[in-house]
Amino acid sequence: MDLKVLLTGSGGREHALAWKLAASKRVQQIFVAPGNAGTASEDKISNLDVDVMDFAAQIEFARREKIDLVIIGPEAPLVAGVVDQFEQAGIACFGPGKAAAQLEGSKTFTKNFLKKYQIPTARYGSFEDVDLAIEFTKNMSLPMVIKADGLAAGKGVVIVHSLDEAEFIIRDMLSGHAFGEAGARVVIEEFLEGEEASFIVIADGEHYLPFASSQDHKAAFDGDMGPNTGGMGAYSPAPVVTDEISRKIMEEIITPTLSGMRDLGHPYTGFLYAGLMIDADGNPKVIEFNCRFGDPETQPIMMRLKSDLAELCLAALDGNLAATKIEFTDEVALTVVVAAGGYPGDYAEGDVITGLDQTAPGKIFHAGTTLDRGEVRSRGGRVLGVTGTGKTVALARAAAYDLIEGISFSKMQYRTDIGYRALVREDAL
Ligand code: AMP
Ligand code: GLY
Repeated sequence: MDLKVLLTGSGGREHALAWKLAASKRVQQIFVAPGNAGTASEDKISNLDVDVMDFAAQIEFARREKIDLVIIGPEAPLVAGVVDQFEQAGIACFGPGKAAAQLEGSKTFTKNFLKKYQIPTARYGSFEDVDLAIEFTKNMSLPMVIKADGLAAGKGVVIVHSLDEAEFIIRDMLSGHAFGEAGARVVIEEFLEGEEASFIVIADGEHYLPFASSQDHKAAFDGDMGPNTGGMGAYSPAPVVTDEISRKIMEEIITPTLSGMRDLGHPYTGFLYAGLMIDADGNPKVIEFNCRFGDPETQPIMMRLKSDLAELCLAALDGNLAATKIEFTDEVALTVVVAAGGYPGDYAEGDVITGLDQTAPGKIFHAGTTLDRGEVRSRGGRVLGVTGTGKTVALARAAAYDLIEGISFSKMQYRTDIGYRALVREDAL
């Protein structure tokens, strides 16, 4: 009971990480900046009213409180170089530095990187010039995918079905500045067929340990219809990632990525999230990298993690993962995101949420919530990550939806089919 931890962020990912850190025998206290009503209500955890991008205030707090370990939740501070700043201040901070975080911060960096190190990904071109970009589309088959280069909160990706549509989107991104700085460059790529999965590892610059596989649902509505969101639900394990595919992902993607980053002089320490497309022959290709844990994937994965998360982060900072083990329960964990009505478009905030004190079997993680004079209110698009566990997908899913039955706030919205692909595979057994 000696470690004091500072974790930055305020989403479901951060509630799940903080909750898991609190379970560590070595952790005395966790501060979450700024946190949510969920982190405010857990033993050993308190919120700190500091913005995720206010690095100076975080460093000052860490010095004053003698924080032993800082963990960064979201991508924006990592891409902006928060880890380098903590390092300069002599404070242990877990996450990739600015140069390594380019794996999420710039799609052009990543596509060039993947090509250089022969890591499987969709064929692509990267352009700042409108005419060159439009010319390139003429040699691509349809549908094709057009992406803003920089961070666009999961919204800078458009799948187009005609050349006219491609031209419209390219003009909108490059000259219309639809995504500001993030859209000053576009990546145009081949559309990949298959099933998506998330494969997340913890890396120490050289070695890594894989977390259990997971899969999320990015579309807003049932049947994967509607606009893309940050993620409406997730579960672990993802049955599409068999042991053999898992080995392939490590050999063909994760290992060469970490050795490539070392070769470039940017060794990667932190959580590394590979968003993959797995084709009908079981071959994985990289869709994207994220330089942080997934949200909502964190919630089901932390439910299943048996190992001590604080020890894992410290071992990674010490370059010691080769001598460390990671273990998971055999259970399935499944998270259904409960969002505010209207998300990912406009939505209301400030609605009182009831039914949050239910316990078994699972865990209600908070995301966009705030504590207001003893009442929990909504503050954000994704409000809760309601997580069920069970021996099968069907049981974990029933547990999650049972918990949701007891929860209520004005215009709450959620998908009723989270885990349907895994259920189909389970039923086929
Ligand atoms: P990204 O921000 O690059 O992860 O893209 C967001 C989503 O768009 C992904 O999760 C996929 O569902 C879809 N997507 C992106 N790139 C491709 C691609 N090349 N082929 C098929 N789907 C894609
Ligand atoms: N669930 C997708 C992500 O975290 O990027």
